[in-house]
Amino acid sequence: MIRSTILGLGSYVPERIVKNEEIPFLDDQHVRQAVQQTETSDEWIRARSGIEERRYVPNDGKWGSSDLGTIAAERAIADAGITAKDIDCIIFATLSPDIHFPGTAVFLQSKLGIDGETGCACYDIRQQCSGFLYGLQMADAFVRTGMYKRVLIVGAEVHSHSLDYSTRGRDVMVLFGDGAGAVVVGPVETDDPRAGVLYTSVQADGSGAMDLYLKVFEIAKAPFVQYDWKNRDENSIMYPQMNGKRVFLHAVRNMVVATKKALKETGLTWADIDWFVPHQANLRINEAVVQYAEIPPEKALNTIMFYGNTTAATVPLTIDHWRQAGKVKKGDLVLSAVFGAGYTWGAGIFRV
Ligand code: UT7
Repeated sequence: MIRSTILGLGSYVPERIVKNEEIPFLDDQHVRQAVQQTETSDEWIRARSGIEERRYVPNDGKWGSSDLGTIAAERAIADAGITAKDIDCIIFATLSPDIHFPGTAVFLQSKLGIDGETGCACYDIRQQCSGFLYGLQMADAFVRTGMYKRVLIVGAEVHSHSLDYSTRGRDVMVLFGDGAGAVVVGPVETDDPRAGVLYTSVQADGSGAMDLYLKVFEIAKAPFVQYDWKNRDENSIMYPQMNGKRVFLHAVRNMVVATKKALKETGLTWADIDWFVPHQANLRINEAVVQYAEIPPEKALNTIMFYGNTTAATVPLTIDHWRQAGKVKKGDLVLSAVFGAGYTWGAGIFRV
């Protein structure tokens, strides 16, 4: 029987570390000023989110999500022991695409040198913080049906350029960072029901769509971009808007339900699973999920302290971080649960 399995994993974060202490002093170009720009503090950010620092790309106009994604993808491809030319499908998950269209997957494809007339299929998916598990479900289906043999899933985000660096935007601004993660998924011939990707289940509830959104434009209106350059302070259309409390509650509830459902439907217990890898939006969300889903706390892996919320990148980035630290080993079984804007959410169980 053909099953899908993760053949390689890679991640990338920019070099610039932005500590909580620096955040109140950043201007809208992320340049540190002598005078405080935003009313926030290390104490508040740490206590409410668990974040200590995050990474930002240089503000030199050269870094889009496809650039971060390319480095993560190259690492995943090398880890899989293949070359970029072996990839026959790319699934790119991001909420910070390089431009409006075309999608970011084709830019990544070009940067990997696999464009041209023999180029592979390219998909962009828009499920925000749940993008990686949505992509894994697609890759699993593609590989098991024989449609594609080497599927590259990339989650990559440049958040630092689209945050509101003022007190008005502080609730969202302090949470997000830049980063990328990637995996290569391919087929394995096996009768072992616990090999490779064991389970994926994803859901959405559009009634929560306006609890976390970034408009930038509204195509129903003309002009469809309503940006008043003379009055930059009023342009909330340029920045993410969030009802933090509602998102928090829905995140905890749905990640708990998705985690319990994953175990019930596979017949697995926490004794079978090596690691719980939740989406990294808030350490308090993850601690609540661990408590309510009765997950052994020592099996929960977090990286939000180091990277903040990197949306579609968090799951592969967290696994790769702890693999590099020597904790996660080849073949370990991971249960991942995610929740994000949309609302979208889900869970997956897979070997890394
Ligand atoms: O990736 C998936 C999507 N994202 C999430 O899952 C995020 C979900 N939500 C959250 O993580 C939390 O709701 C936040 C971290 C955003 C906020 O934490 P909270 O405990 O829900 O705080 P709050 O929104 O109730 O705000 C408490 C106070 C408010 O002041 P008042 O009204 O009590 O005077 C806020 O104005 O904290 C204030 N505040 C801040 N103060 C300092 C909000 N943001 C900040 C800030 N620094 N950055």
